[in-house]
Amino acid sequence: MSRPRYRLLLTLLLALPAAAPAQNLDSLLARMTLEEKLGQLNLLSAGGRASAAQMQLVREGKLGGLFNVIGAENTTPVQRIAVTESRLKIPLLFGLDVIHGYRTIFPIPLGEASSFDPDAAQATARAAGLEAAAAGINWTYAPMVDIARDPRWGRIAEGSGEDTYLGSLMAAARVKGFQETIFATAKHFAGYGAAEAGREYNTTEIAPRTMREVYLPPFKAAVDAGAASLMSAFNDIAGVPSSGSAWLTDTVLRREWGFTGFVVSDWTSVAELINHGVAAGPSEAGRRALTAGVDMDMQSSIYMDSLPALVRANRIPMAVVDSAVMRVLRAKMRLGLFRDPYRARATPPVAETRALARRVARESIVLLKNDRNVLPLNRSTPMIAVIGPLADSKLDALGPWHTQGQPEDVVTVLQGIRSHASAAQILYARGAGIDDSSTAGFAEAVGAARRASVAILVLGEREDMSGEAASRSTLGLPGVQEQLLEAVAATGTPVVLVLMNGHPLILEWAADHVPAIVETWFLGVEAGNAIGDVLFGDANPSGRLPVTIPRSLGQIPLYYNHRNTGRPFEASNKFTSKYLDVPVTPRYPFGYGLSYTTFAYSNLKLSSARARASDTVTATITVANTGSREGTEVVQLYIRDEVASVGRPVRELKAFQRVSLKPSESRTVELRVAVKDLAFYGLDMKPVVEPGRFRVFVGPNSVEGLEASFECIP
Ligand code: BGC
Repeated sequence: MSRPRYRLLLTLLLALPAAAPAQNLDSLLARMTLEEKLGQLNLLSAGGRASAAQMQLVREGKLGGLFNVIGAENTTPVQRIAVTESRLKIPLLFGLDVIHGYRTIFPIPLGEASSFDPDAAQATARAAGLEAAAAGINWTYAPMVDIARDPRWGRIAEGSGEDTYLGSLMAAARVKGFQETIFATAKHFAGYGAAEAGREYNTTEIAPRTMREVYLPPFKAAVDAGAASLMSAFNDIAGVPSSGSAWLTDTVLRREWGFTGFVVSDWTSVAELINHGVAAGPSEAGRRALTAGVDMDMQSSIYMDSLPALVRANRIPMAVVDSAVMRVLRAKMRLGLFRDPYRARATPPVAETRALARRVARESIVLLKNDRNVLPLNRSTPMIAVIGPLADSKLDALGPWHTQGQPEDVVTVLQGIRSHASAAQILYARGAGIDDSSTAGFAEAVGAARRASVAILVLGEREDMSGEAASRSTLGLPGVQEQLLEAVAATGTPVVLVLMNGHPLILEWAADHVPAIVETWFLGVEAGNAIGDVLFGDANPSGRLPVTIPRSLGQIPLYYNHRNTGRPFEASNKFTSKYLDVPVTPRYPFGYGLSYTTFAYSNLKLSSARARASDTVTATITVANTGSREGTEVVQLYIRDEVASVGRPVRELKAFQRVSLKPSESRTVELRVAVKDLAFYGLDMKPVVEPGRFRVFVGPNSVEGLEASFECIP
């Protein structure tokens, strides 16, 4: 729908009837039939607009919410049925996967995590929420806060990468941003990112300590930030499906964390308890999920169809149903739906949202390599070859889960380069498709590279090669893109490789032979402008890797915060932890990223050499811009608990700060760490900070930096 029509709709909406005010949800519950109660727990997907059958369910009070209803012109009539034609006039939730933008598409979450800028994540979530709300949506299935240590898993693109601390900050920021207008859903609760072999929907084996320390904290952060809902995951953990785990949804989430919102299942994850082998049929599956604490049944229809009989037969206590219903009703109340069911909102100004998209896209770009300062490019370069299947692709720049993002809104890399180097002659050649096998376009690409003084190759994955159901068993460039890269590089013309991808890629040949590599993930509608800004030096790259980039597939899982083992790697000793055929180190470590300037670290000091568990230790360090351009450094603080009753990771990120410095400027940066945040789960599985020495590293990534230490005293 065009934007002026939204305004017209807004005016119309104001004249619509409101839901019956329900001052007292207890009295509302008391008036509900069993079917009406289970109806509130029933959630179905619409194909853009509600079907006649779904509208009838709404009329009968047998639906608590719908998702995938697109546009206020489609949500409004259904809401009108709910609040005027159904017996109890309870308003509906309208859900949608607004993952990284509604219409204005921002970088994919993994890209945005590269910014190490939770404020940016909050701003884009806020903007996405505003656009979605104007389209009638009141509930998003985001943020995805799954920690992912396996780049084969396609959904790594939707989260914040491998680190729990960064992931928790991003989770909280996104929840806050969305919830300025719509409800957020932290998903997928829990452990979904640990899918074995990176294969989508696969089983997981997560030790209780790892669960508590690595996978659960981002959910806790989302809950603490006020997340209205959580989504139960598809995976099982050692045989216990997350969508039927009372330990997860009841013990941890509600009892330990005090979560008062509601839990929605993932798409048919209630019915899938049958496939998991923990329920013989729909009734058992429904009973297992509901009694575990999964309040809303997405898309299985099992609660609605199979549970009435079980409740009537006293096989599910009415109190269990009532608790779930009350959690959903309270959420609707909290959202203001009883007062204002249509929540008419105007679409925010497009120009502002796009400016935000460009800024965050710039921040999300990671410069991986820049030998001989190939970058930034000179605007007066007379002839530039722009090559590759992603150079002028509008659709792919949107990345996975682009909701209502439209290809026509996208500025491609080719367009971005043209507008930044308007005087240059641009020779564009697609060269090859993303994953076809034809090399027919190589000659033209090689010819263009030969004539030009620099060749920019834009290579990577198709937008649907990451995201859900998009695991890959190899992480090179699909199709013949690697050969295209090598053929172009063989011309001797300097090559700048611009990557667009949702999976972290393993590109050893490029890392060894291509002078400049720019990781852009999928940046959304402003991709071309942001990439142009970076390639031509209007923006100095400041993104840092939120994931480890391996050298070889065989190293996976490879993550920076691993434990030391009893035989840590030693080059001179065969009988240490390593491979015969590949180094143990990654190609690019977590936290890594270059800039067009250089930074020097000096003078690391800790506020005290001894600290109690109740204290805060402040690290100060001088960071200087030693190059000739203004730039932003992400100063990172890691700790290592040297000796504990349980072996601790070799490094753990505990603080970071983005610091912008002019050439020759230096600043004393302060990073604070509360000692209580260094707790781990001890032998008795209770959180503890044990006395002893903590090493502190402050530097530009997870392997470099200066070191100091303090003693934790009882
Ligand atoms: C995905 C969820 C998503 C849901 C609704 C599922 O297949 O796993 O992340 O929110 O579909 O679209």
